[in-house]
Amino acid sequence: MGQRSFQDMLEEQKKGMPPVVKSDLTGKIVMITGANSGIGFEAAKHFAIMNPARLIVVCRTVEKAQDSIKKIEAETGYKNAHPMALELSSFHSISEFVTQADKTLDRLDILVENAAISTAYEYIVTEDGWESELQVNSLGPALHALLLLPIISKTATQYSVVPRIVVVSSETIFFPNTEIGSDAIAATNTLETLSSKDYCTPEVMRIRYVQSKILNIMLVHKLAALLPKSIVPVSLNPGFCLSGLRRKHDGEEAERFKKMEDEFAYTSEEGSRQIIYAAIGGKDEELRGAFTSYSRVLEVSDWMLSEEGKRAEDKTWTEMLDIFSKVDERMPQIITEYLKA
Ligand SMILES: NC(=O)c1ccc[n+]([C@@H]2O[C@H](COP(=O)([O-])OP(=O)(O)OC[C@H]3O[C@@H](n4cnc5c(N)ncnc54)[C@H](OP(=O)(O)O)[C@@H]3O)[C@@H](O)[C@H]2O)c1
Repeated sequence: MGQRSFQDMLEEQKKGMPPVVKSDLTGKIVMITGANSGIGFEAAKHFAIMNPARLIVVCRTVEKAQDSIKKIEAETGYKNAHPMALELSSFHSISEFVTQADKTLDRLDILVENAAISTAYEYIVTEDGWESELQVNSLGPALHALLLLPIISKTATQYSVVPRIVVVSSETIFFPNTEIGSDAIAATNTLETLSSKDYCTPEVMRIRYVQSKILNIMLVHKLAALLPKSIVPVSLNPGFCLSGLRRKHDGEEAERFKKMEDEFAYTSEEGSRQIIYAAIGGKDEELRGAFTSYSRVLEVSDWMLSEEGKRAEDKTWTEMLDIFSKVDERMPQIITEYLKA
């Protein structure tokens, strides 16, 4: 089933979230971004309970990460959480983060790209000149995951384990008329077009968050196609949850979301169970490159499977690698050494 109506989603949402899967993570290193709030914070606590050798709590500032760690420790008793700072709206911050990670981590078993924003349809430009939802939700996590490939790959070979790269997407990707526009796909540079002020009309900004979540799934498809079988990239839908995500919305839109939240939202803890499923549940061969939802694999949208969707996936991937090669000198070698299928 490649298409889902709002009614399908609502019915599933009302069924209840499957229970959290559990595992023993002794000896393993887990990293999660956006670990101070909402779904990411709850997932961090689930990981902590499974006792990894280290849990890297990644937040926008070290102070936020330290505050989060205090709460994780108080609620779980876990003592091996480490703070790291990452600002996804800055390629420089991502590069610095990975330089630091290279020095301090000798393995990385589970990487969760969870952090994201909703600007409430506002067009905001980052310090790197990109439309902010595009950079924070899509380009930033992609660069972060790609720069961490050497550690992830080393973990697979040196410790004979199958690391997972988990990217938090959304089932909003099934909403009609949210695709990446044909005009942007046909443009010489799709990502630059998507980011430009002229292109980002209010109508486009209304679907930008969804487009950024489509790009998350496309990233996972490409990683699965190009990485060895010993690494499992997977994307997921946490369901519609109460969290800080919609905090920028106001007026009628905020009221609409509030009504939906009152009627059928999951708690962040319930949503976080889907991160845990993607990180440790299911079978590696089934989850590799898959989009998961309610603890099972779900086919992506018809548009993503269409010729145009595949063209968008290929084009944005090639463009991303080009952009990243310009912002971080490690990228060309990562492309040659790790992304060769
Ligand atoms: N809630 C839902 O209904 C829902 C549904 C589908 C998918 N999702 C996805 O679930 C994931 C978690 O979102 P959430 O609902 O838990 O929202 P949330 O409570 O707002 O958490 C988002 C996290 O991302 C961090 N973040 C935001 N901008 C960042 C940046 N520029 N650099 C680094 N970190 C940044 C936030 O840090 P600060 O606290 O410092 O801002 C926060 O820790 C997201 O990928 C979201 O798209 C959520």
